[in-house]
Amino acid sequence: MSDQGDLDDFDRETFSALMAAIDQTLIIVTTASHDIRAGCLVGFHAQSSLEPAEYAVWLSKANHTYRVGALSEHFGVHFLTKEHHDLAELFGGHTQEEIDKFAHCDWTPGPDGVPLLDRVTNRFVGRRRAWLDPGSDHVCLVLAPGVADHSGDVGWLRLADAAAIDAGHDAEERQRPDGGSSKGSRATRPV
Ligand SMILES: Cc1cc2nc3c(=O)[nH]c(=O)nc-3n(C[C@H](O)[C@H](O)[C@H](O)COP(=O)(O)O)c2cc1C
Repeated sequence: MSDQGDLDDFDRETFSALMAAIDQTLIIVTTASHDIRAGCLVGFHAQSSLEPAEYAVWLSKANHTYRVGALSEHFGVHFLTKEHHDLAELFGGHTQEEIDKFAHCDWTPGPDGVPLLDRVTNRFVGRRRAWLDPGSDHVCLVLAPGVADHSGDVGWLRLADAAAIDAGHDAEERQRPDGGSSKGSRATRPV
């Protein structure tokens, strides 16, 4: 680290290289409200408390999943392995505004109608505990984990595996009141 003193001296290039090197695992977050289903690929996620157990995921304000999630109480958190690349492409490369993702995969309704993806057997259903908006392009959704399934630790799908997936929505897009969205520059990926 070159200069410990100046926190305002943000070096985006080094920060981005560090984040890429960490090569975060990828999940799919699903939810439903008033029979409207939603889900997207998420790279911003982590356990965030031990007692009580909590798990945080960050949803982009540009996403359909964010808008449905704002009205939902339950969320499915699906941990992907390398055999789920097609699901990552479906949920990360497309928006529900353009295709019905749930018509292209097998799923089963869980608590409160939250869609659970049949092929992803490492997952839990979480109940919303907090929805925190720091004013940036993502909100932090804090979940209390409930029913969980764990079927062994095998080759997790990571950020580098998804390098070719072009996000359905750029994080800097903003929704308009008429339901459309305004595209910003495509300079940044969500993660
Ligand atoms: C590698 C990768 C990581 C992503 N990480 C996130 C994330 O952490 N949070 C998020 O809300 N969107 C993230 N996205 C973007 C959404 O998955 C994507 O824009 C999706 O098409 C939105 O779908 P929706 O509009 O149906 O919700 C990521 C996309 C990719 C390709």
